[in-house]
Amino acid sequence: MEKRIQIHYKGDVYGSLNDIRRHEIGNYSDAYVRSLFHVGGRQPDIVVRVMDGLSFVSYTQTTLLPAKKTFDLSVAIACCADRIVRDATLNILEIGTGTGVFPVVLRVLVPEQSLMITATDISGDALTVAELNASLNNVDPTSINFLKRDGLKDIFGIAHRQDIVFSNPPFSTSNRVGIVNAGGIHPTVALDGGQDGTHYYQRFLIEARRVLKPDGVTIFQLPLQKDDLWRTVYAIQRIAHERVFLMEDCIARYRKNGPQFIVIGNNFLISELSNQGYKISEI
Ligand SMILES: C[S@@+](CC[C@H](N)C(=O)[O-])C[C@H]1O[C@@H](n2cnc3c(N)ncnc32)[C@H](O)[C@@H]1O
Repeated sequence: MEKRIQIHYKGDVYGSLNDIRRHEIGNYSDAYVRSLFHVGGRQPDIVVRVMDGLSFVSYTQTTLLPAKKTFDLSVAIACCADRIVRDATLNILEIGTGTGVFPVVLRVLVPEQSLMITATDISGDALTVAELNASLNNVDPTSINFLKRDGLKDIFGIAHRQDIVFSNPPFSTSNRVGIVNAGGIHPTVALDGGQDGTHYYQRFLIEARRVLKPDGVTIFQLPLQKDDLWRTVYAIQRIAHERVFLMEDCIARYRKNGPQFIVIGNNFLISELSNQGYKISEI
């Protein structure tokens, strides 16, 4: 990836990737990402988000900055992984991993033998960033099965049947991508969810069914904006023949926007996640 690396943080500019070492950024508390964009009045090519001591870099127009709710879900799944292992190993697949926050957090917290993690993206550059984030957090990138795949058509070839398929799909209506991406920071491929914003949710659900175990679940992160959120929920409800649950972290700061996740499936995971502080209601 040919990108000039420049990291802006609290008025300082860091010039090389070697500067992004955990012992340096580990000292920062959770960084409020937006502040990183406005230092010096110009956009950096790369930004770092630190969450609970783990560091994630994101490249302008290559990856979407990871959200705290994605991070928190990974922690919650990791916390109950031991109790939800069905066979010897729990198989988890993410479609559209971006910076790799979901698989990296899982791998930091759960030992390799009890969790097999596959993370796909249609963007090879995004996968490069995800692997970099694994290394930054002392995770061997080869301990996560990173695959360049189009989640709309070729995840079926994935070797193992999955217990959990997670995705935060492109979520914006096509005509609002320019507004969501006002600073031109994000890659369009991460945002454009088609005419009504639900295209990838519907298609990824159909594809996920093909790789899930019979009692597996699909978990989608829901859009932040309320109209998009509820339109997505109704679109999924229309095509789901499994049970459908809304999942909400009632304590976190982002709770005011409504449920953050939708879970599709008749699964063991539901009660475990409610023990992790999520309010879960069937719809
Ligand atoms: C909204 S971003 C989510 C990124 C990351 N999972 C997160 O939550 O921060 C959507 C991701 O899906 C990827 N994507 C878009 N279309 C895809 C497709 N057809 N198959 C697989 N991944 C796709 C994008 O490259 C992007 O990384």
